[in-house]
Amino acid sequence: MPIAEPTSSTSLDLTWIRSQFPSLSQTVNGQPAVFMDGPGGTQVPQRVIDAISDYLARNNANTGGAFATSRATDTMIAGARATMADFLHCDADEIVFGANMTSLTYAMSRAFGRELGPGDEIVLTLLDHDANFSPWKALEEKGVTIRAAKFNPADCTLDMHDLACQITSHTRLVAVGYASNAVGTINNVKEVVRLARQAGALSYIDAVHYAPHGLIDVRELDCDFLVCSTYKFFGPHMGVLYGKREHLKRLHPYKVRPNTNNIPNCWEWGTLNHECIAGIKACVEYWEELGRRACGAGILAREEAGALTTDVADRNVRPTQSASAGRNTSLAMSRREAIVAAHAAIHPHERAMMEKMIGGLLAIPGLKLYGITDPRHFDQRCATTVVRIEGHTPLELATKLGERGFFTWDGNYYALNVTEQLDVERSGGFLRIGLVHYNTMEEVDRLLAALREICKK
Ligand SMILES: Cc1ncc(COP(=O)(O)O)c(C=O)c1O
Repeated sequence: MPIAEPTSSTSLDLTWIRSQFPSLSQTVNGQPAVFMDGPGGTQVPQRVIDAISDYLARNNANTGGAFATSRATDTMIAGARATMADFLHCDADEIVFGANMTSLTYAMSRAFGRELGPGDEIVLTLLDHDANFSPWKALEEKGVTIRAAKFNPADCTLDMHDLACQITSHTRLVAVGYASNAVGTINNVKEVVRLARQAGALSYIDAVHYAPHGLIDVRELDCDFLVCSTYKFFGPHMGVLYGKREHLKRLHPYKVRPNTNNIPNCWEWGTLNHECIAGIKACVEYWEELGRRACGAGILAREEAGALTTDVADRNVRPTQSASAGRNTSLAMSRREAIVAAHAAIHPHERAMMEKMIGGLLAIPGLKLYGITDPRHFDQRCATTVVRIEGHTPLELATKLGERGFFTWDGNYYALNVTEQLDVERSGGFLRIGLVHYNTMEEVDRLLAALREICKK
């Protein structure tokens, strides 16, 4: 039976979603594989796999050559850049492709550091993944002062007061995560960007963990830089950096001489992973189709119920139009509008799973959940939870769950400051259970049952 999750203006067809991801149908020891390892990397839809192999089969070449496959490669990369620009809501020349977020951030910290010296300060947070910490801390070698804002240990929310206090007239950059890959907290990055700008500093947002869960709009945020990794939102293993055009043009990246001075290429080192770039385009097109389907289905459902209300879809649709109006409207949407619709559709589903997961986890005797547990603040967290359970190490729990087909993580996931501050680093970190939109309520129930059973033994 199809699994459908209706929402106010969109509808989520989980049967269609899950059919897009071939890996989801695997089994482990006779049990269905349950992928709750999304924070470490998500699964990819078939179209991403096809795009990668098609590129290798037909167009495999370096860029800038005077022959067919090289020209096709140039066209493909330009198309992927424009697609990714729609995902983040910027222009294509503000998109830089790289091996991963960590390398892109090191490249940026090296370039930005060329302008800095003693007396300059950079503000970081203790809630961040180390990839948004160590590359900036390395600038201490140039005499730059690094300050780190604290988080509240009780609920693992960023201490915004402390952050505001760390930002001074000497601050040149504020680097903050959009969402924590450990405890799941979503930070008020709009406010962080405002505080940075007010002090004359630039903002650098690590959106790696946020990207699969929430809509990113760099224009609306008005951040100076934002980085993400496509393998965390259903694409291949690559990183993407958005930089405001003025900064990408003004800063001086380290680069080899024959590389042009044009943005964004001057920021892209050596030959890129072209096949994965082809996969990135397909990944964003997955989001797009998800949005179009969700929006079209949502309109149809409401038409059938005679309750057409106002939303993005209503611009071209009147209640008197035929039942195909939903489909037509979803086709008339721009790619960006479809991505917006996709996020609107997945949000209630992720939220419902998160509520069930957190409620169920808290009922397990001896379990401690780190992060926001008060449902009134659930809009400040995503569906990533970390726990410890008395009498079991995180590795033991992850191993036992793994044997039963549940893929979860143990350790610190490179959020080293978080595990150190919470004093769990020396004892194995946490067990992390991460949900994304292809997970189901039934999988949440089964995970909870498995964990209860493991804890009884
Ligand atoms: C929040 C966050 N930032 C940065 C990174 C590093 O990303 P990459 O593996 O693309 O370097 C990760 C990876 O887990 C992450 O979760």
